[in-house]
Amino acid sequence: MVLLKTDLSMAMAITCMLKTATMTACYPNDPATNGTYGTYYNTLTLTYYPQNADCNDYYVPISLDYKGKDFVAPKWSNPYELQDSLSSLTARTAADGPAALSREKSYKGDYEIAATFCTPRKTNGKENTVIVATHGIGPARSHWNSPFRPKDFNFVEHAIDKGYSVFFYDRLGCGASTKIDGFEAQSATAKTVIQVLAKKVQQGQYTGKIKAAKVAVMGFSFGSYATHAAIAEDPSIADAVILTGFAVNDTGLNLNGLVRSFVPRIANVENPALYGDRDNGYVTWPSVFDLIMNYFKAPAFDAQTADFTESAKEPFSAGEFITFADPAKVSAEKWDKPALHITGEKDYIVCDGYCPGIYEEPASTLYKNAKPLQLSIHPNASHHLNFHANATGAYGVITDFLASNGL
Ligand SMILES: *[C@@H]1O[C@H](CO)[C@@H](O)[C@H](O)[C@H]1NC(C)=O
Ligand SMILES: *[C@@H]1O[C@H](CO)[C@@H](O)[C@H](O)[C@H]1NC(C)=O
Ligand SMILES: *[C@@H]1O[C@H](CO)[C@@H](O)[C@H](O)[C@H]1NC(C)=O
Ligand SMILES: *[C@@H]1O[C@H](CO)[C@@H](O)[C@H](O)[C@H]1NC(C)=O
Repeated sequence: MVLLKTDLSMAMAITCMLKTATMTACYPNDPATNGTYGTYYNTLTLTYYPQNADCNDYYVPISLDYKGKDFVAPKWSNPYELQDSLSSLTARTAADGPAALSREKSYKGDYEIAATFCTPRKTNGKENTVIVATHGIGPARSHWNSPFRPKDFNFVEHAIDKGYSVFFYDRLGCGASTKIDGFEAQSATAKTVIQVLAKKVQQGQYTGKIKAAKVAVMGFSFGSYATHAAIAEDPSIADAVILTGFAVNDTGLNLNGLVRSFVPRIANVENPALYGDRDNGYVTWPSVFDLIMNYFKAPAFDAQTADFTESAKEPFSAGEFITFADPAKVSAEKWDKPALHITGEKDYIVCDGYCPGIYEEPASTLYKNAKPLQLSIHPNASHHLNFHANATGAYGVITDFLASNGL
């Protein structure tokens, strides 16, 4: 479904007149309110393509067949029931009861993934290295390809400038990809999608004229944990791994705290105009201030940038949220290729606000056979390192890592 700018701003105006005061898109400075970035929602075609690239958009058909966990907790049908589930989940006694997701279960399904492949107009030999990028919880594929101040915040444009090709996609349930059942989507789902897509890219599918000589899988946040799980299980899918907004020390992963600070609400109730096509398993935080709490740290960001990322936000599934850090316990000892972890110094989500001191272990143990493992802490930023001041500094660490390891 392609929403035209005018349709979208009209839909926004109507929904903002309804008295759902917490609705994020109605925040006065939100660019979505005036349609500036509105065509970002649910469309295969993007509002912005880097000038230095040739880009193609694809619907990639995929068949999934994987083992995940069953959502055994009661499935809420309204906001009251969701709040009760969340208070049970985070209560002191929660550990005594059954986990919301337990029992292994097999899942199968056919879906479509909305993806963009960009390759440099000016080539230098590196264009045959393809970065396969998986976004996290909160954004869609625009995470990598910001139309807002692209010189400051667009990773794809930076990577293209250095000569690399980039394949980036809307995760299942996000953007223009199929809206899978929100009570099914979980970390194991995302891991399987990454394995399927990386193999397609290795086989030269959906990469235009490029036949990938090397593939680097890259994630952000939830996408990094799923990428970590994907290469730990099947190292053959890539030649290098880049995990942004990623850390594995328990001390930094305060899961109860995160359920509270994310303030999850049913997405289709919060904003029916934008998220009416998601079932009740999809949730979102209510305002830009909740985004800032979890993703940004002053003074290294500005309010307009936070407003942009809020306007481009996507709901996520409750199961993805609950299982996001499960792969933190998974050993990647079978991985004997280059690995980079790069995370903001003040990451609130994966380091509970401060990474130094807890970043090295158990990361070094999980990646004990990586050749090499590079652990980088990006100064001053919280979780959204792509959208803080000096985001291009982080992009430089990533492309230097690839170049210095022969990719
Ligand atoms: C729409 O929002 C953008 C971004 O905040 C702003 O620069 C622009 O002036 C706004 N346009 C209107 C017509 O309000
Ligand atoms: C987490 O970091 C702390 C502080 O460096 C360290 O003592 C602890 O062993 C780490 N946890 C694991 C599982 O390595
Ligand atoms: C950014 O980080 C550097 C290094 O940690 C520090 O010296 C500097 O004061 C920080 N800048 C701001 C604006 O916080
Ligand atoms: C910008 O980021 C890079 C990479 O993390 C870092 O080395 C550099 O010190 C940062 N610059 C500033 C001014 O914080």
